Amino acid sequence: MSLTERTVPYQGTQPPRLARVPAFVEAMGRGWADVAVVPELVPGAPQAAAEHRRRLSEAVPGRTLVVPAGRAPVRANDTAYDFRPSSDFAWLTGGVAVEGAVLVMVPTGRGHDTTLHLPPPWRPGTPGFFADAASGELWVGPSPSLTAWEELLGVAVRPLDEIDPALAAAGDDAELARRCSELRMVKDEWEVTQLREAVDATVAGFAAVAAELPTAVGGPDRPGLGERWLQGTFDRHCRTFGNQPGYATIVGSGPHAPTLHWVRCDGPVLPDAPLLLDMGVEGRSFYTADVTRTVPPSGRFDPVQRRVHDLVERAHRAGMDAVRPGARFSDFHFAAMEVVATGLHDWGLLEVSVDEALSPQGQQHRRWLVCGIGHHLGVDVHDCSAVEAGDQHAVTLQPGMVLTVEPGLYFHATDLTVPPELRGIGVRLEDDLLVTPGGADVLSDALPIDAEGVERWTRTHSTPSM
Ligand code: GLY
Ligand code: MN
Ligand code: MN
Repeated sequence: MSLTERTVPYQGTQPPRLARVPAFVEAMGRGWADVAVVPELVPGAPQAAAEHRRRLSEAVPGRTLVVPAGRAPVRANDTAYDFRPSSDFAWLTGGVAVEGAVLVMVPTGRGHDTTLHLPPPWRPGTPGFFADAASGELWVGPSPSLTAWEELLGVAVRPLDEIDPALAAAGDDAELARRCSELRMVKDEWEVTQLREAVDATVAGFAAVAAELPTAVGGPDRPGLGERWLQGTFDRHCRTFGNQPGYATIVGSGPHAPTLHWVRCDGPVLPDAPLLLDMGVEGRSFYTADVTRTVPPSGRFDPVQRRVHDLVERAHRAGMDAVRPGARFSDFHFAAMEVVATGLHDWGLLEVSVDEALSPQGQQHRRWLVCGIGHHLGVDVHDCSAVEAGDQHAVTLQPGMVLTVEPGLYFHATDLTVPPELRGIGVRLEDDLLVTPGGADVLSDALPIDAEGVERWTRTHSTPSM
């Protein structure tokens, strides 16, 4: 039948709201095969999460605890972006990634009763199945039943609407966040495994990025695709071998390298300038790596670049040597800063003595290193940050803590206080360290830190065309 032969004309000025069309609702509710979706967490996650809850329960007896998973960020008016659970929620559930979920722990005489509240799936036959674009299964795919989650996790799982409204309102609990941060500082064996896997995937991602250097740099007969190509290469690697990047991937070539968080990545990759790569894979359990290397795309640093890299390397080694049980968190910061200040003084860049620069009233060397020298690492890249910075620095390091050490030197192209040959050079070295009973284990030591090693690694993993 052609349009002109239609006997019942289209009615109205707008398409009907499907959920209000009884015949449609009735027809959409039937004729679907049952799908049983098995919930997945990484191996060992339910057991690790149970232990995390036990430790939290012990730390805050008698307190009612409400930990929401949060919501996906919305952008472009009404478009939900990828969902990632809040970090405390991930730590307490082993990484249950269900938007809107809420974990409730109610005190009993002996501990806490735990219930995980989840939004029940909008299955065929429920009104949201086709009408709820945010979570209807027709829109976002099928999800596990609450019973399946209960079996996997070993805790009571109930629908979200059964949560006590008074509890649902108690979402923002600074004291609870602080206690979770304190407890999250020492990682257990399962967490260390997650971090090792994230670091290994990150090291592989560095190699994937190096392999794309010729494409990013370009050559006489083809333009280079620039920083963004390398950023995309690493981000694709993260999405394929983990969950996503643990933070916005930083790829800074030449004059962009001194910009600490150069996530714009819209410049070219210059063959003869250091290229700063700060990149971390967040694994499927949401633990992330955070690693930086500064590489020469041509395969060789020039003498000035090399001099900067060598000083950063010395500071890095001094910082890493200061990571051991019994040391204070701030020790590796001061150890690295002393090397940096001394080196800058030797180069004639400091207008004051090293002692004056290192004093709390000085800090002149920090012009070229305004950020910290490291941080805890875990489910968050800057982990345990509900413990204030001042209190973090006073913490005594213990086996099981995982930290980054990340000194750098950042000479901006616009910095008129340094000789022209230093302007536009930025170098950072960043490794992830596990504090062990005997000192520290550098989880990211598959990547070299000495200039020659970095040069060789770059040449081996790329095929420079220049
Ligand atoms: N990439 C963020 C940091 O190094 O802390
Ligand atoms: Mn870091
Ligand atoms: Mn970093």
